[in-house]
Amino acid sequence: MSSLLNDYSLRAHNTFGFDVRARFARRIEHETEVAEALHDARTASLPRLVLGGGSNIVLTGDYPGVVWLVGLRGRRIVDETHDTWCVEAAAGENWHDFVAWCLAQGCFGLENLALIPGTVGAAPIQNIGAYGLEIAEYFESLRAFDLASGEIVELDCAACAFGYRDSVFKRAARDRFVILSVRFRLPKAWRARAAYADLARSLAERAIDEPTAQEIFETVVAVRQIKLPDPATLGNAGSFFKNPVVGAAQYAALAAVEPGLVAYEQPDGSRKLAAAWLIDRCGWKGRALSGAAVHDRQALVLVNRGGATGADVLALSQAIRDDILARFGVELEAEPVVV
Ligand code: EPU
Repeated sequence: MSSLLNDYSLRAHNTFGFDVRARFARRIEHETEVAEALHDARTASLPRLVLGGGSNIVLTGDYPGVVWLVGLRGRRIVDETHDTWCVEAAAGENWHDFVAWCLAQGCFGLENLALIPGTVGAAPIQNIGAYGLEIAEYFESLRAFDLASGEIVELDCAACAFGYRDSVFKRAARDRFVILSVRFRLPKAWRARAAYADLARSLAERAIDEPTAQEIFETVVAVRQIKLPDPATLGNAGSFFKNPVVGAAQYAALAAVEPGLVAYEQPDGSRKLAAAWLIDRCGWKGRALSGAAVHDRQALVLVNRGGATGADVLALSQAIRDDILARFGVELEAEPVVV
């Protein structure tokens, strides 16, 4: 049984690097330790927070309960059919390392999601996505410990109710499950997915016409390294806001006054607006409030320039939201979980 840690610093467990403390923390390194942790009388009545890489969370203060640090490890090829591979990783595996491992096994498909910070177990919670791909597309199932029943359950794609940066784990099932492992089914008939503007441009600059999966992987890594700050050197949680979706009429009215507006048409005729463009247009790029700032190379990313608190980041995000609402009539929704 893993030991209970007292008054534990969470600084290394959240990518904003906020220096807050948990009253208690414990590492979960074997699946059996979830039930043990649940029944530990010393913490049973306290609030509980399950943390993977802490890459999509704003910790606003010391945590008064117990934090479970998910460190479950293991990756494997589960099975192979005539036209697919099934790969699995335990929840505590680093997401990027898992993507690289899949490629090394000859199982392609996840390479557009290279370098996304965080763990495999956190990936389904917000249906991580980048460069034209979301995990929902290749997701097969996950195993999770159901804190309500004490049982291990298997959830398929429908049960996870994936949406854009969204799933059942952010809604009806929030705080109900501890994800243990995740499976993906990858088609053997691989096709490069290279249409996303930034990726296509970068491949063209490298004179790559027909990219291999490895070349997509390397190019995505390079693009991300240019645009997105490395949490190891500048605290952040990736995109802070979702790209908002507006109806066709609102889009037309906005586009009439803002010809540069960046938007992507959705299957139902609505438009997903580039929140980064809206924020940039309002002059927020590079601006700071206390130690919290808008990243100077990507307006959708809020950063901790040093010494910022969760409250500073929330104050900055609120100021941005107010401004975008006043100027464009568009509500921005935060991507990270606020605790
Ligand atoms: N843009 C600006 N100013 C900026 C940045 C971008 O005007 O400072 C414009 C760009 O010119 C572009 C548009 O906004 O036309 C969109 O920008 P970009 O392609 O960089 O993507 P994004 O919408 O900002 C989304 C995801 C990212 C993901 C990239 C690539 C969301 C909330 N964010 O960002 O995901 O990596 O696309 O697919 O959907 C994350 O979720 O944490 C994340 C980083």
